Amino acid sequence: ILNSVLYRPAIHYTPKINFMNDPNGLIWDQSTKTFHIYFQYDPTAPVAGNQHWGHATSKDLFHWVDQPVALNIGSDGLHIFTGSMVIDTENTSGLFGNKSNSNFVALYTRGNLETGIQDQGLMYSSDGGYHFTPYEHDPILTLNSTQFRDPQVQWFPQYNKWVMAIALSREHKVQFYESQNLTQWSLMSEFSGGIFGVDYECPNLTPVKDQDGNSKWILFLSINPGMPLGGSGTQYFIGDFDGKEFVAETNSTQLLEFTKDNYALQYISQGSILNGNSSYGENAFIGWVGNWQYAQTTPTGLWRSALTLARNYTLKDNEYNQTLLLQSPLNLESLRINSEAVNTSVSLNSTNKNISMEMPIVSTALEINIKGNFSKLPTNATAAQGRVFLRFANSFDEYLEAGLDWGNGGGQLWLNRDQLKGFNDPFYTGKFSAATDVSKDNFEWRIILDASVIEFFADEGLTVGTMTYFPKIPLTELYLESPSGESVDLDVEIIPLAKTMN
Ligand code: FRU
Repeated sequence: ILNSVLYRPAIHYTPKINFMNDPNGLIWDQSTKTFHIYFQYDPTAPVAGNQHWGHATSKDLFHWVDQPVALNIGSDGLHIFTGSMVIDTENTSGLFGNKSNSNFVALYTRGNLETGIQDQGLMYSSDGGYHFTPYEHDPILTLNSTQFRDPQVQWFPQYNKWVMAIALSREHKVQFYESQNLTQWSLMSEFSGGIFGVDYECPNLTPVKDQDGNSKWILFLSINPGMPLGGSGTQYFIGDFDGKEFVAETNSTQLLEFTKDNYALQYISQGSILNGNSSYGENAFIGWVGNWQYAQTTPTGLWRSALTLARNYTLKDNEYNQTLLLQSPLNLESLRINSEAVNTSVSLNSTNKNISMEMPIVSTALEINIKGNFSKLPTNATAAQGRVFLRFANSFDEYLEAGLDWGNGGGQLWLNRDQLKGFNDPFYTGKFSAATDVSKDNFEWRIILDASVIEFFADEGLTVGTMTYFPKIPLTELYLESPSGESVDLDVEIIPLAKTMN
């Protein structure tokens, strides 16, 4: 019970009790100016098992109102797996009495635990996404497969049709279907690529703009198990979708993150047909902070799992001309308590190798922005590495570390949660690293620290890591060190973020 409080985030969504996994049916309802999130939820236990759709609403993606479970297991006993939500404003399905912005339709996977069959079901709501009725002619789509799941449906005004992306998981295929009415579907194409793992899960095809304003598509694809870092994780492909087929620009896949605790993301769909492109104005997604290797044994007590903050995304070319995803936390500025912020400049060098400071208010989340400048080392092969690192520490000798190594013209950043003692699991690995740009002799990090979730953004959001972390007592101190005495100038900003979760 103590842990339930100690590890409970201040600004990341978590259920009050029991187990959450994938975000489902994320949607912005323009007519009521409300965000809806649904999520895989077991209302009976803090482990996965009885899969339902939990539900919460928000005006700003930070303050959440918990709603009653939205999709319940019916008398057929079929479990309710991952899926998506659309607003059928034009009543294309014929399920509603009239055209209305309140016509919500959930499309999801029905899991038959006896036969193992996974097929696709539909439930509809005439009250804007609160109360749902099962469609009487389910399933709307079946292949009699035991590994066919996670439909993502969206309306394409330019083609005047609905399109579904769905995983034929064990065959490592993403299938694309089309429909006029949400209940009858025909196969258009298949996509296969990247890391296969055991299962493909949770495909998510989302529009995106590149740096020059060109429209492209990203296909996010989750894998479980079998990611390079172990267990589950998300990869993505950048490409084009012509209404029928997704074609990736390159054969190579990209990993969403360099850590292993962000899974099954969904982008926030913009809602109804009538509203067309009028939206809240951002491309954003939310992921599940978890890894199936240990998500059901984390030490959080009565509740388990958080969602990531909503992240804005665009595309950007990196220094090697590769087009990559650029991520940043959406509207985080709105939570800043500037009057309590700490701003300081620190110079580390051979006579002053380290410094430590107390962090302001630790009962809420913190945003920590670090800008560093270092003297570049010679780029010959024998050049020594420079290193600078920080620790978020407590008086129990526990710390969470982030560091940067540079030399030979290249750079590597790393995170390390090995020195925290709150959770032991053989798969709960501690050290993660990523290539980072040090060509300009400086770096910029943005870190969100929230009780048991850290989100780490470097290289303007090209390099991102989400991690759970479990100290025995809160981390209250910031320690910075340049161990070899290389000169590093640091601007450190620590900004408390107003608590939004109860
Ligand atoms: C992904 C996943 C989905 C499935 C859901 C069940 O984490 O395995 O493929 O629909 O979780 O909870």
